[in-house]
Amino acid sequence: MKKGSDVIRNQLVFLRNGKRVETSQVDANETLLDYLRLRERACGTKEGCNEGDCGACTVSLGSVRDGRLVYEPVNACIRLLGTVDGCDVVTVDDLAIPDQKGGEELHPVQQAMVEHHGSQCGFCTPGFVMTLFTLYHAGVKPDRQTVNDWIAGNLCRCTGYRPIADAALASISGKAEDALAKRRARTVTALAEMQDGEDIFIGTKTRFFAAPASIASLAALCAKNPDATIVSGATDVGLWITKQMRDLPKIIFTGRAVGFDEVNIGKDKVRIGAGATYAQAWDALAGIDPDVGEVLRRIGSRQVRASGTVGGNVANGSPIGDTPPMLIALDAELELTKGAKTRTMAIEKFFIAYGKQDRAPGELVSALSVPRLKKNQHFRAYKISKRFDQDISAVMAAFRLTVEKGKVTEARIAFGGMAATPKRASNAEEALLGARLDDEAVWAKAVEAMAQDYTPLTDMRASAAYRLKVAQNLLMKALHEIASGNDAQSRLVGIREAAQ
Ligand SMILES: Cc1cc2nc3c(=O)[nH]c(=O)nc-3n(C[C@H](O)[C@H](O)[C@H](O)COP(=O)(O)OP(=O)(O)OC[C@H]3O[C@@H](n4cnc5c(N)ncnc54)[C@H](O)[C@@H]3O)c2cc1C
Ligand code: FES
Ligand code: FES
Repeated sequence: MKKGSDVIRNQLVFLRNGKRVETSQVDANETLLDYLRLRERACGTKEGCNEGDCGACTVSLGSVRDGRLVYEPVNACIRLLGTVDGCDVVTVDDLAIPDQKGGEELHPVQQAMVEHHGSQCGFCTPGFVMTLFTLYHAGVKPDRQTVNDWIAGNLCRCTGYRPIADAALASISGKAEDALAKRRARTVTALAEMQDGEDIFIGTKTRFFAAPASIASLAALCAKNPDATIVSGATDVGLWITKQMRDLPKIIFTGRAVGFDEVNIGKDKVRIGAGATYAQAWDALAGIDPDVGEVLRRIGSRQVRASGTVGGNVANGSPIGDTPPMLIALDAELELTKGAKTRTMAIEKFFIAYGKQDRAPGELVSALSVPRLKKNQHFRAYKISKRFDQDISAVMAAFRLTVEKGKVTEARIAFGGMAATPKRASNAEEALLGARLDDEAVWAKAVEAMAQDYTPLTDMRASAAYRLKVAQNLLMKALHEIASGNDAQSRLVGIREAAQ
């Protein structure tokens, strides 16, 4: 179908088990899991929680990045089918290969799961296998900590994680030699052929899945359809469909727009395209300060970080998102685009009230510009949640202090989980301004002033009293750490040791 000079494709194209699949039967709200189980009848992939938490539905998506075939684990239950265009979709049903006796030869990670007793009831096993399969293709020989980090998004209620980690350590050497590795060149060629630069539009004017191929066509389509739901990783939107049972008739996916996920590391700032996933933005953001990297490592799981975007974390306006307090403390600038017009604002101005952001219908969050730290600026960030991994924050704190000749000349303190929006602690900041960094009497005043900054809520994550106490203690912790002069390198070592 032709529209003006732009070509519009009305079908999805992806790879399954080495074969090209083309389908125009794509409902806007159809998940990848439903496609696999209900349409392909590939039922090895399980449905557990249906909300991205348990990892039973993990599949691996291959795509070509900078000429390299990269596999990432994703939760098929909340990933929309339309978003896998141009990907190699690998499920647990594809791993074993026929052997010479007419039987099946298990994949090395499956065989190791058998030998190390990594499965009991077996319900979680396909998900673990797919996470390990993806790690098998990651080109690293993992240590136990790396394995634990990879499987943090897979929950097992009966086996326990040690045998599963043992299976990973025994089978993953950093060199992939399975059937997929053998057909890698063919896969790259097949995926490259799918990058046709065509906009995807499947459906009708009133119910569609669209995936524009350029930033200009993405911005134009969003502006033309202000009532459509913009979808990036769908790690929030997926749950509106699977848990809130909402019908979202018009979906516009940002993930195919070339350059929308671009990450640039400049001398003074880092620019993150709104479509960059946590995994893509990681190096650039963690390069600002190790604490940023440590918070990112604890956002959801590998699966969530492979799909979820920093842009989505800001756009959703959640008071408990992990990146906004850090971005506010770092004085980041937000870029918004509607049609051909782009405007910028200090990120803290974006969050107006609970559920209300300074974003017009049809306007995209298009990028974030994050200043790097100057020599006299010190940063700390802490995430407090009930579980260490794969949990939403009860309180999220970020601090940036500028210090000249021993005195605090600027203080930027921002918290999540303490108010209806991510919010700065202006009274505490004022108490610190102009004071000597090591003046403990001033620290006490700042801690006291914080009680005026926030009136937190009590909810299932924490009580109001707990939240305020924790926030005050985190301010004290940040001041102690900064005044004691721990540099970024020694903190990085500390973070790694604590994680062992
Ligand atoms: C299991 C699980 C664990 C999680 N853990 C964490 C956690 O530890 N910390 C945390 O902060 N969050 C967590 N989340 C929430 C979620 O992953 C993040 O908020 C994520 O950053 C959302 O990004 P996304 O790309 O998936 O957004 P989507 O779900 O695609 O969209 C979210 C919202 O933003 C809008 N939107 C998306 N992109 C744009 C854009 N470019 N312009 C305008 N609007 C846009 C959508 O319309 C929607 O309203 C978790 C979610 C799950 C399922
Ligand atoms: S079914 Fe639990 S993460 Fe998908
Ligand atoms: S083996 Fe039963 S849930 Fe993991």
